[in-house]
Amino acid sequence: MSKTLFKKLMVTHLVVILISIAVLGVFLSQLMKNYFLNTKEDELTTKGQEISSITAQYLKGELNEDTTRYIINSLERFVDARVWVVDKNGLIRMVSRGSQCGRGRMMMRQGFQLPPEETNRVLNGETVKQVGESPHFTEPMVSVAVPIVDRAAGRHEVIGAVFLHAPVTGVTVTLQKVYTFLIIATLVAVILAGLLAVYLSKAISNPLHQITAAALAMAKGDYQTRVKVQSSDEVGELAASFNYMGDKLSETIDALHQEKSKIESLIMSLGEGVIATDRTGTVVRVNTMARKLMQFAEDPIGRNIKECCSGGVAEIIQKVLEEGIGKSATLKKENITVLALASPIKDSRENISGTVCVLQDISEAEKLEQMRKDFVSDVSHELRTPLTAIRGYNEALSDGTVEDPEIRQKYHNIIREETQRLERLIHDLLDLSRLQSGKISLELEPLDVGAVIRSTVEKLEPQINIKGIAVELDIPQNIPYIMGNEDRLVQLLIILLDNAVRYTDAGGKIFVSVGDVGLKGVEIAITDTGKGIPKEDIPFIWERFYKVDKSRTRTGAGTGLGLAIARQIVELHHGTIEVESELGRGTTFKIVFPLAES
Ligand SMILES: Nc1ncnc2c1ncn2[C@@H]1O[C@H](COP(=O)(O)OP(=O)(O)OP(=O)(O)O)[C@@H](O)[C@H]1O
Ligand SMILES: [Mg+2]
Repeated sequence: MSKTLFKKLMVTHLVVILISIAVLGVFLSQLMKNYFLNTKEDELTTKGQEISSITAQYLKGELNEDTTRYIINSLERFVDARVWVVDKNGLIRMVSRGSQCGRGRMMMRQGFQLPPEETNRVLNGETVKQVGESPHFTEPMVSVAVPIVDRAAGRHEVIGAVFLHAPVTGVTVTLQKVYTFLIIATLVAVILAGLLAVYLSKAISNPLHQITAAALAMAKGDYQTRVKVQSSDEVGELAASFNYMGDKLSETIDALHQEKSKIESLIMSLGEGVIATDRTGTVVRVNTMARKLMQFAEDPIGRNIKECCSGGVAEIIQKVLEEGIGKSATLKKENITVLALASPIKDSRENISGTVCVLQDISEAEKLEQMRKDFVSDVSHELRTPLTAIRGYNEALSDGTVEDPEIRQKYHNIIREETQRLERLIHDLLDLSRLQSGKISLELEPLDVGAVIRSTVEKLEPQINIKGIAVELDIPQNIPYIMGNEDRLVQLLIILLDNAVRYTDAGGKIFVSVGDVGLKGVEIAITDTGKGIPKEDIPFIWERFYKVDKSRTRTGAGTGLGLAIARQIVELHHGTIEVESELGRGTTFKIVFPLAES
C-alpha cells in the first residue's frame, strides 16, 4: 500500500512541480527577452537620436568624413551596434567598421543602395524598430532606424537616416543562464518532492497499516484490538473512529453473546426435548431433555438425523424438509412414550432453512389416559354383573314361569343381595374418590389402638365363627396411643379382616397383634392362614378393581376396591402398610401408625 501511496504522491508532486516550472520558465524567458530587447531598442534609439545631428552635418557637408567615421566607430564600440548612415535616397553613405567585415552577411560598404521597403518609413520621419532575422546579417539583430532631420533656419526636412544594428546574442546568453537556473531548480524540487512523498506516505501509511492489521484481527474475532491515535488529522480521526467502532462492536457482540447464552440455557433447561437441524437434515442443536429421551448412541451434533435417530423422528424431519409443513409422530420406547412434533424453520423469504423437533414425554399422560379407560371399563364391568343378575331373576319372577314360592323367595333374596352389592360398590367408589381427591383431611386424635381392635373384632366375631375360622388377639398392655381417626381405623380393620376371612377356608385362623416399634410408632399385624397371594400379584393388589382371581366376578365376590381404600386411609394417617404372603400358607398385612405426641 505504501508503495502505491508513495508512487501517487511522487507523481502528483512531480507533475505539479514540472508544470509550475515549465509555465514559470516560458513566462520568465518571454518577459526577460522582451525586457532585454526593449532596453536595447531604447538604447539604440537614444544613441541614434544623439548621433543624428552629427550625421546631419556630415550629409550637408559641414563635417568632414574622417571625424564622422571616427564618431560612428566609437559609437559601434560603446553600444556594440553596427551603424549605417543613409541619405534621403536610401543610399548608404557611411558604415561603421564592424559592418565592413565580421558578422555582416555581405560586405557592407558605402554606395550600397538599400531597398525602398527598408527606408520608406524612416525617410518619412518615423523612428522604426525591428527585431529578428535580417537579410544583411547572419544572426538575428535588434535594428533601429532614426531619421536625420535638417532643422537649420526653421526647416524640418528629413535628409537621411541612421541605422543601428545590434546582435541579439547577448539576450540569448542571458536567457540560457535563466534556463540553466530553472533546470537546477527543477532537479532540486524533484529531489525534495521525492523526500516529501516518502515522508508523507510513511506518515499516512503507517497508521493505515496499523488500522488494516487491527481490522484483520477483528475479523478473526479479536474485538479488543485498538490502534494508537497519533495525530489529530484525518488519519487520526480515522483511527479514533476505528477504535470507537471496535468499542461498539465488542459491546454489541457481548450483548449478542449474553442473549445467545440466555436462549441457549433456556433451550437446554426446557422440560421438552428439542432437536434442530439445518436444511440438509444435519443436527445443529440438541438439548438435555432430547438426549435423555432419544438415548443417542453417539453425539448427534454435526451428523445427519437419519444416522442418529431411529425411525419416527428422522422420518418426520425428512418429510418436513420435503413438504415444508409440520408433522408429528408418537414413538414407543421401552417404558416411555414420546410425542415428536416437527416444524419447518423458514427465513424471511419463506424458504425452509431447517427444522425444529419438540419431543414430549407423554408416558405419564398416556398412563393416566389408560387408567381412565381401565377405570371406565372396570366400573362398567362391575356394574354390569349385578345388573345382569337382577334383570335375569326379575324377568323370571315377573313372567310367571317360576311358581314355586321357595324358589321365588330365593330369587327375591338374590335380587336384594345384588342390589346391596351395587350400593356397596357405589359407596366404595365414592369413598375412594373422596379419599384420593386430596381434598379431605382426617381429624386425627390420640387413640388407643388396642381398644379399637378389640371392639371391631368383637362385632365381626359371630360372622367369622360362622365360617369356621378362629380369631386370636395379642394386644399387650401399655401400648402407646397413636394419632388416628377412629371411624377410618375401624373401616381399615374391617377391610383387612374381611379379606382375611374371605380368602381363608374353614378351619383356618386369623391372628391380630399389636406391637410397639419404638420411634416408628405402633404396628398392627393381621395374619391369616388362608390361600395367600401369588408373588407376581403382590405389587398390584393396591390398585382399584385388582383381583388375583379374575374369574371371580360372579355373584357375591368382592369388587377389588378394599385394599385401594385401605392404602388411602393409611396414607391419610401418615402411616405405612405392607404385605407379606406365601401361596397356600397365609398372608400378613402390617400397618404402622405414628405415635400421638405425649
Ligand atoms: N388376606 C388375603 N389373602 C389372600 N388374598 C388376598 C387377601 N387380601 C386380599 N387379597 C387379594 O387381593 C385382592 C384385592 O383385595 P381387595 O380387598 O382390594 O378386593 P376384594 O376383596 O376382591 O373386594 P372388596 O372390594 O369387596 O374388598 C383380592 O381380590 C384378593 O385376591
Ligand atoms: Mg377385600
